[in-house]
Amino acid sequence: MAAASTVVSKVFTKDELCALERAPAPCGIVIFGASGDLAHRKLFPALFSLVLDHLMPKDFYVIGVGRTSLTDVAFQSGVRQALGTVGTAEERAEFISHLTYLSGEYHLEATYAALGKRLAGLDEVHQTHGCHIFYLATPPALYEVIVGLLGSSGLAAARSSRACTRLVVEKPFGHDLSSARDLNVAIRRVFQEDQIYRIDHYLGKETVQNILMFRFANAIYEPVWNEKYIDHVQITAAESDGVEHRAGYYEQAGVLRDMFQNHLLQLLCLVAMEPPASFDADAVRNEKSKVMTAVSFPSADRLGQDVIRGQYGAGEIEREAAPAYRNEPGVHPNSFTETFAALRMEIDNWRWHGVPFYLRSGKRLPKRVTEIAVQFRRVPTSIFKSLVVEELSPNVLHFRIQPNEGISLRLEAKHPGPKVCLSSVTMHFDYTEAFGVTPPEAYARLFLDVMLGDQTLFARQDWLEHSWKLLDPLLQYEKDVQETGLRSYPAGSWGPPEADALLAREGRQWLTR
Ligand SMILES: NC(=O)c1ccc[n+]([C@@H]2O[C@H](COP(=O)([O-])OP(=O)(O)OC[C@H]3O[C@@H](n4cnc5c(N)ncnc54)[C@H](OP(=O)(O)O)[C@@H]3O)[C@@H](O)[C@H]2O)c1
Repeated sequence: MAAASTVVSKVFTKDELCALERAPAPCGIVIFGASGDLAHRKLFPALFSLVLDHLMPKDFYVIGVGRTSLTDVAFQSGVRQALGTVGTAEERAEFISHLTYLSGEYHLEATYAALGKRLAGLDEVHQTHGCHIFYLATPPALYEVIVGLLGSSGLAAARSSRACTRLVVEKPFGHDLSSARDLNVAIRRVFQEDQIYRIDHYLGKETVQNILMFRFANAIYEPVWNEKYIDHVQITAAESDGVEHRAGYYEQAGVLRDMFQNHLLQLLCLVAMEPPASFDADAVRNEKSKVMTAVSFPSADRLGQDVIRGQYGAGEIEREAAPAYRNEPGVHPNSFTETFAALRMEIDNWRWHGVPFYLRSGKRLPKRVTEIAVQFRRVPTSIFKSLVVEELSPNVLHFRIQPNEGISLRLEAKHPGPKVCLSSVTMHFDYTEAFGVTPPEAYARLFLDVMLGDQTLFARQDWLEHSWKLLDPLLQYEKDVQETGLRSYPAGSWGPPEADALLAREGRQWLTR
């Protein structure tokens, strides 16, 4: 019988691994929706930061596509503005010389015929061997149309044996299970799964990636990473901003679709997954999908108790008055869209049986912070005379995802002096302090991985379907209860009091404040 083989082609020292060049091959990047907010705020600055870090290919070009009629010069000038004062004027000018613009309607074949000609010409100049990345940064309703026409125009097909064609899809990927499946079917008619990069920009954040390093490169955590030692886990993604100019999208989405279906469930998987056999894309994504099959969201009879939904009313943030959600521009005055949700769920497997996971996210909370708090169980008894065990605070491990990325551990420690005085102290690791650099932007890392063909940090279709399967009953419940299930909270607070009660009824409290 042939032995199962684990092929390790070469092993490295830590320094060798670190020094390995991650140099992508020359390529052409096509951004649909290039005149939009995402492209200007995130995508172009991310590409430019890769240039500054010498991580872009030797040669590359970018074609922005949009309906807006713009000359190359006007488009480049908009991007130049978006880059602000980062880099030198020469570096910005050099980067901008790689950009061109193509205006056209997304649903017209003529647009793709013109794009084909532009690609062929630029491929010749930049020697990209037909390596193309198509980035969908338009409203999601256009994804199917664009992908269909990329297919029928022949642009999605590899033009040479060295060509690579990849598709990047922005979130949201569907608005429920059935639309996510339909979109996937439409995309898979044209692209293979290994060509599709479904973005969840949280996965590009350094501290998020560090959860895996932390768990699987240190021996001390694995033995205690289970229901015997962990009391519960909290995941909080708080925003102080309101809906801003995105009411059109947010009114249809709400916080459950906007934050829970993707970011919060991804974070949950990284905390809860089993060790993958390797750090390869499929090994990691297999384990994440396995967690999703074991997640038990509140059952129908528990939805009322275990899911708290809220919408912000008028209030104050950092001493500035903030309007109610229903008074924000573009929001329906009787909107039932939830801007806050907190929920309790469990993972029904050997590792996590009985450990509650509390997830919370909302807009107009007192500050912008994303954090995972893993609270360990208390010591079984107090050996310190006359100190009840409840007085000894349990250890808490905090993963700070943003801002001030870092990891901290809360411990009990003795005060100096002859008396037995204990208090909680924190051991803290700060990314910027430890490494002397601020962590790179998530989109830069993700762009680099797309160019390198590394799918580890992108959502696979099976994971996505699991996430919608979990969320669909909550969305249905939300539709059924509408206003009755929606609590109001003042802008600048930590959500409705019921969210605190969700934990308090089990003797716990939110740790991120
Ligand atoms: N902005 C963010 O922070 C953010 C964050 C996460 C995910 N996303 C996702 O990224 C994608 C783009 O977001 P965005 O905020 O950049 O969107 P956007 O600014 O509203 O739209 C991007 C571009 O798409 C075109 N467009 C807009 N509405 C259209 C319509 N009804 N029909 C045809 N074309 C239209 C416009 O370009 P032309 O008129 O020139 O064609 C627009 O500049 C969306 O799927 C969004 O969900 C955005």
